[in-house]
Amino acid sequence: MHILKSSDLTKEYCDKLFLKAWSFANNGTLLNVLSGRIVGTLFFEPSTRTRWSFEAAALKLGGQLLSMENAATSSSGKKGESLADTLKTCSNYCDLLIVRHPEDDAIEEAAQYATVPVINAGSGKKEHPTQGLIDLWTILQNCGTYDNGYKLKNDLDILFTGDVSCSRTCNSLINLLAIYGLEKISLHSEGIAYLTSFRKSVYHYYGDQIYSRLPHIDVLYMTRHQAEREGNREKSKFIITHEFAEVMKRNAIIMHPFPRNEEIHPSTDKNIRAVYFNQIENGLWIRMALLADLIGIKVS
Ligand code: NCD
Repeated sequence: MHILKSSDLTKEYCDKLFLKAWSFANNGTLLNVLSGRIVGTLFFEPSTRTRWSFEAAALKLGGQLLSMENAATSSSGKKGESLADTLKTCSNYCDLLIVRHPEDDAIEEAAQYATVPVINAGSGKKEHPTQGLIDLWTILQNCGTYDNGYKLKNDLDILFTGDVSCSRTCNSLINLLAIYGLEKISLHSEGIAYLTSFRKSVYHYYGDQIYSRLPHIDVLYMTRHQAEREGNREKSKFIITHEFAEVMKRNAIIMHPFPRNEEIHPSTDKNIRAVYFNQIENGLWIRMALLADLIGIKVS
């Protein structure tokens, strides 16, 4: 099984992963469910959190790594090899491949040539399903309940801001929120590129309108300006500070997939609503859960 698109995932599968992630987060001991397994990482775009959290997850579970950073310049792709040939080749040397690529559809197309599971670790503007899982789990932990399955708070009010139309993390998260029954989203941005499975209401807010929305929302999901993506998009002028965060509801949360630029003022870090560092930590537990599920030794 590959993990390529957020819209391919089911609520049942996500719930199962979240429970597994919860058990990893609450069990500090080293486990050997990946003993004898090799995880390969191929990153054709920069990464800090995604690559290291996947690699740490593999190591913590007793697995080993074949890791290629800067794959755009150090793999045979540089000599004109197709991604399909690279994934087919690398499938011989490892039990699972984690791939990041700047093109929107390249990983999904090439994955059919791989003979081991492929995890999409970020494809262009389109998909970042594992970040979507991390973000959804973080929302459920703060604005959800668990009773024989995870459930979002009724009428959850989430506002996305920043370079939303080029943000693969927003797209993946919105698809997953739809799977969990979210009825509406708000955007403080010029629309979203790939709204594949969200068929409910989308409300738009512009410029200073964000300040009057802040006291009403449950989740503020921020993104950086994606300077590396093509197109002429205006950079958002909104910067969250501790002072602005204080006008939000007491139990509202501020999220960001990171890396952050100037859109989050460092004063916000001390605000009780800032959960972006929890999001980063959750990345480890969710990725451990994914690796254990996809290639872990099954213990009965
Ligand atoms: C994001 C990404 O690479 O899509 N970061 C991440 O994986 N946590 C967000 C970004 O680059 O802005």
